[in-house]
Amino acid sequence: MSDCLPPTVLKLAEGLCDDEIHIWALPYDRAAGRLPVRRLLAGYLDSVVDDVVLTDAPHGRPELGGTHGGRLRFNWSHSGDRALVAIARSVQPGIDLEHRARRGARDVLALAQRFFAPQEVQALAALPAEERSSAFLQLWTVKEAVLKAQGRGLAYGLHRVVVDLWESGPVLVRFDDEPTTPWHVQALSLDPAWVAAVAWCGPSMHVRWCGEPH
Ligand SMILES: CC(C)(COP(=O)(O)OP(=O)(O)OC[C@H]1O[C@@H](n2cnc3c(N)ncnc32)[C@H](O)[C@@H]1OP(=O)(O)O)[C@@H](O)C(=O)NCCC(=O)NCCS
Repeated sequence: MSDCLPPTVLKLAEGLCDDEIHIWALPYDRAAGRLPVRRLLAGYLDSVVDDVVLTDAPHGRPELGGTHGGRLRFNWSHSGDRALVAIARSVQPGIDLEHRARRGARDVLALAQRFFAPQEVQALAALPAEERSSAFLQLWTVKEAVLKAQGRGLAYGLHRVVVDLWESGPVLVRFDDEPTTPWHVQALSLDPAWVAAVAWCGPSMHVRWCGEPH
C-alpha cells in the first residue's frame, strides 16, 4: 500500500520486532512539518500517508491516532536540517538530537548550573575545560530523551533526570527519586558534529540504526 517509500525501507519496517527500536535519519525541512515522519510511519503501517493521523498528547508529544492509534510508538527530534526518528512497537521511545555548532561556544557550566542537577554540575566542573562542552551535550541529550519518552518534555525539568557519563556510555542515576530500573538510555553514535540519545521505559531493547530512507 505505501507508495512513497523504497522497498528496502518497507522491508525494514515489516521486520520491526517487539524488542527493537528503529532509528531513522531524515533531512529536516520546517515547511514540511511532520510529513516525513508520517510517510515513514505509513511504511510501518502498510498504509498511505493520508491515513496516518497524528494527535498531540496533553504535553505535546505526537502520537498515532485514528484507525492506527496505539499500533506503533515513535518520537522524533530535529536540529538544523536533520532529524532522527525512533519507532517501536512495545515501548515509548524518546529521542533527542543536537548539533554541536548550533549550541555555540556557550558557558556550559553556567547552563548546567541553571538546568542540571548539582551532581552533574560537579561532574562537568571536574572535567578538563576542553571536554566540558561535549559532555554537556551528551548529558543534555540523554536527559531530554528521558523527558520525551516520559512525555512531559523539557518543561518538567532537566534537573529531575540525573545522568552519569561512563566510558561505557551514559547511566541513568535518578529520575524523580524513583527507582531507575525500568529505564534505559543509550547514546547514539552519529558523525561527530551531532550528539544524540534515545531512552525508553520497559524491557531491554535492541536499538537498530536504519540510516536514511533511500
Ligand atoms: C517538545 C520539546 C521537548 C522540544 O524540544 P526541542 O529540543 O526544541 O525539540 P526536538 O527537536 O528535540 O523535539 C521536537 C519534537 O518533539 C515532539 N514533542 C513535542 N512535545 C513533546 C513531549 N512533551 N514529549 C515528547 N516529545 C514531544 C514533537 O514531535 C516535536 O516536533 P514537532 O512539533 O515538529 O513534531 C520541548 O519544547 C518541550 O519539552 N515541550 C513540552 C511542552 C512545553 O514545555 N510547553 C510549554 C512551552 S513554553
